[in-house]
Amino acid sequence: MTLEQMLGLAPVVPVLVIEDAASAAPLARALVEGGLPVLEITLRTPAALDALRRIAGEVEGAVVGAGTVLTPAQAEAAARAGARFLVSPGFSPQVSRAALAPLLPGVATPTEALAALEAGHALCKLFPVEAVGGRALLKALQSPLPQVRFCPTGGITEANAPAYLELSNVVCVGGSWVAPSDAVAAGDWARITALARRAAGLRGGASRRTA
Ligand code: 3PG
Repeated sequence: MTLEQMLGLAPVVPVLVIEDAASAAPLARALVEGGLPVLEITLRTPAALDALRRIAGEVEGAVVGAGTVLTPAQAEAAARAGARFLVSPGFSPQVSRAALAPLLPGVATPTEALAALEAGHALCKLFPVEAVGGRALLKALQSPLPQVRFCPTGGITEANAPAYLELSNVVCVGGSWVAPSDAVAAGDWARITALARRAAGLRGGASRRTA
């Protein structure tokens, strides 16, 4: 599956910070059951690589990737742990060259989007989208950069996601709201499945509209 195909599977990619690897598989199952199979495990905790490995090995239907990939070493470790895709908050040519799985680089400006495109990335994370211009920025990029499509992340909620998803240059959105840390800590998988189900039902996604 190409990166675009993976990111086209659902309108929302949960951005997950996993503190305890034992919660990884039940959390992933709850999200997949709610209709969100594409999961980003951020490499921000000591448990992250183990969590990735467990989801990749144990959770049927999950398409798991690694987020917060900052270095070539992390890119390599994540791919070896089973990451099907890699996400970085910024665009690093070194990470791009080292990536053993498709990379979704982060960009926040037209210059960065152009640099990412030159390195072969026609699909970028726009981060942190609410802080750098939100929907207006994405709309402004449509005309000068029609080849680039985005997964905006950073400040997206159930309330503002639909307005992003209706833009033609948005493939999906990323966000942490579908897996609140208190629900994960409490093992409240039913609440997470309910949040995922609502997120999976959000309309939009350029790939869906043109399919
Ligand atoms: C992140 O990298 O933390 C993601 O962009 C998630 O952002 P959010 O918590 O605002 O959804």
